[in-house]
This record gives sequence, structure tokens and C-alpha cells, in this order.
Amino acid sequence: MRTTLSIIKADIGSVGGHIKPSRQLLQGVREFVDNNGKGLIDDFCISYTGDDIALLFVHRKGTGNEDVHKLAWDAFLDGTKMAKEQGLYGAGQDLLKDAFSGNVKGMGPAVAEIEFEERPNEPFLFFAADKTDPGAYNLPLFLAFADPMFCPGLMLSPKMGKGFKFNIMDVEYTEGDRIIELNAPEDLYDIASLLRDNERFVIENIYSRETGEIAVSVSTSRLHNIAGKYTGKDDPVMLVRVQGNFPATGEVLAPYTIGHYVAGFMRGSHVGPLMPVKINSPVSYFDGPPVVSCHAFCVHECKLTEPVDAFDHPFWDYVRDKVTGKAIEMREQGFSGAAMLPYSELEYGGIVERMKKLDRQFKIRT
Ligand code: F6R
Ligand code: MG
Ligand code: MG
Repeated sequence: MRTTLSIIKADIGSVGGHIKPSRQLLQGVREFVDNNGKGLIDDFCISYTGDDIALLFVHRKGTGNEDVHKLAWDAFLDGTKMAKEQGLYGAGQDLLKDAFSGNVKGMGPAVAEIEFEERPNEPFLFFAADKTDPGAYNLPLFLAFADPMFCPGLMLSPKMGKGFKFNIMDVEYTEGDRIIELNAPEDLYDIASLLRDNERFVIENIYSRETGEIAVSVSTSRLHNIAGKYTGKDDPVMLVRVQGNFPATGEVLAPYTIGHYVAGFMRGSHVGPLMPVKINSPVSYFDGPPVVSCHAFCVHECKLTEPVDAFDHPFWDYVRDKVTGKAIEMREQGFSGAAMLPYSELEYGGIVERMKKLDRQFKIRT
């Protein structure tokens, strides 16, 4: 029987600004899923990263299942009521549409799902990022699935020798899903050419070319495309199956040592380094820095093991210090040049109005 992992995450309100959800809110959402998920889902895990609550469901209903999506939607709606009662900031922020239409994709919450036949043992990773957008995973995925400098398994393991297929989405196209399929290693330069533009081209899925099995699923919907204007950075989630025919856990984690610069940070309008943090971490400095957490699990007969916190190890303290340095270096140049995003990516419209006004004040000297 096939197993499905569904992550559905939303920002439905937080304490002290866009920092973290309250304990009561998390407890309330947990209880809602516990009470209403029976007979539908087999197991679940709830956590937060920054101001976002992520629900990980394990079930046998397949991807895009209406009942499973509705459970998450209703849990977030119920949570929004609680958040409003508590006076949490930004209550219901990511629930952009009023009525549930069968699938939460395109409604505001971020979704990543994978369906597969369980291997005898099935390890996987669940990433959640805050104060950034889905392109933040482009570089770490490229390095883990296509670069032997980070993934020696590509050279050493007979199970990965054929490489991986990348499905990449043009997230600026809003009429439907515009996808290109490219194969590593043959199409490496084409893949890199697309992935350099993290705001437009986003890895959605990766498949083993040895077996055809799905390895990766990333949430790709962009809140500003859904809402017509920006309501917040998209704060992406991702599922990655690991070991055996796929890269090892440590190979998938390795690129997070870089702390590469991503879009997001304060007001979703800046560039900051992605910091690997422990599960259930808030954000802080300059509403950031952009953060990513990682739960490692095994799933067996649709039941989750306890999670391991993949970034809770002394090794990552050094990386966090390094990333802190990179954040401060970039922040030292304030709004100038590379520190702030280009117009099209600014989360706040104020500057656009200001530029229109200034445009009218310009005079051409003859
Ligand atoms: C970024 C984010 C925050 C807010 C900032 C201002 O995604 O959520 O950086 O943009 O705190 O928030 P408002 O406009 O709600 O006062
Ligand atoms: Mg928020
Ligand atoms: Mg968030």
C-alpha cells in the first residue's frame, strides 16, 4: 500500500511581531488535528519555524486529497479564531481565500507532498524555512543531487550513477504550472542557468533516474501571485527522501554549511544568508535572518518514528556563527545595491508610489 507524506504550513498569527506562534495556538492546532484527523490520517507531527506552523500528515489517501487538505485548512481556520482571541499579530495572515475549494494549493498555505511505496525502511527529511521563498532550496538541492563535490554518492554509489531528473517550475507564470524537465548530469549547465534565478525558476520535484522514484517535493506556490500583491514571503517547505537510491542525509545537509544569500529577511524585501536552525526556532535579528529547520524521520507502515533535529549538533553552531557574520556584513550596507531586492520582489508597495511621485518631479535639461 502506498504512503503519502503531506506538509501543509501557514502563518496564522504570532507573538511579538512575526516571530513565533504562541504555545496555546500550537496546542490548539495539535488538538484540532488529533480530534478531527482520526480515520483520515495515520500519523502527524506539528512544529513551527519562525512564525509558521507546519503540519506533517502521514496517510494513504494520495497527494492532493481533498479531505486531507480540508483537515489542514480547518485546523488553520480554527487556529486563526484562537489567534484572534489571543490578539496574536497577523492572525490568519496566510489564509487568503474565504472558502475552501477542495485543495489548499493556491489558497495561501504552502504545500509539499510525496506519495511512494515504502521501502523496508524509509528515512526522509522535512525542511521548513521562514523569511524566504521557495528558490532558497535551489542551490542546496542542486549541490546535493548533482554535484559530486557535495554528494560523493554520485561517484561512489552504483545506485545513483545515472543521476537525477529535475522538474523546474517557472513561478512567474500564473495561468497554470509551467514546468521543464531536465536531467543531471547531461543538462547540468541548463539546470544551473535556470536555477541562478531563484525568484523565477524553482525546483519542484527531483526523481531518481535509476528507478524513477520521487526523491524531492518543494512547495512552489508564491503568495504574491496568489493574492495579486505581496502578503508575505512564501516561507517554503520541502520533503526529501534519503539514503539508498537517494543521497545520504549528510549529503543533503552538507550545502546548508554555505549559508547562501537568499531573498526575504526584513519585510521580505532584502537579501540575507540562510541559517540552519533547530526545530521550533523563532526569528529575531532584522526579522530574520532567513532560517531553515530540518526534521529527520523514518516512516514505517504509515507511522512516524520520533523526529531527530538534523541541525541540533555542535557542528552547526559554528555554521550559525559564520552565517551571523554574513548577515551582519550584508546588513552593514543597509538599502544599498545587493542588500535590498529589486522592485519586482519588494514585499511592500510604498516605494513604488514614492518612485511614481519622484518620476513626475524629474525634468529633462535641454
Ligand atoms: C517578513 C515579515 C516581517 C514583516 C515586518 C513588518 O516576511 O513578515 O519582516 O514584514 O515585521 O510587518 P508589518 O507590515 O506587519 O508591520
Ligand atoms: Mg508572517
Ligand atoms: Mg513566515
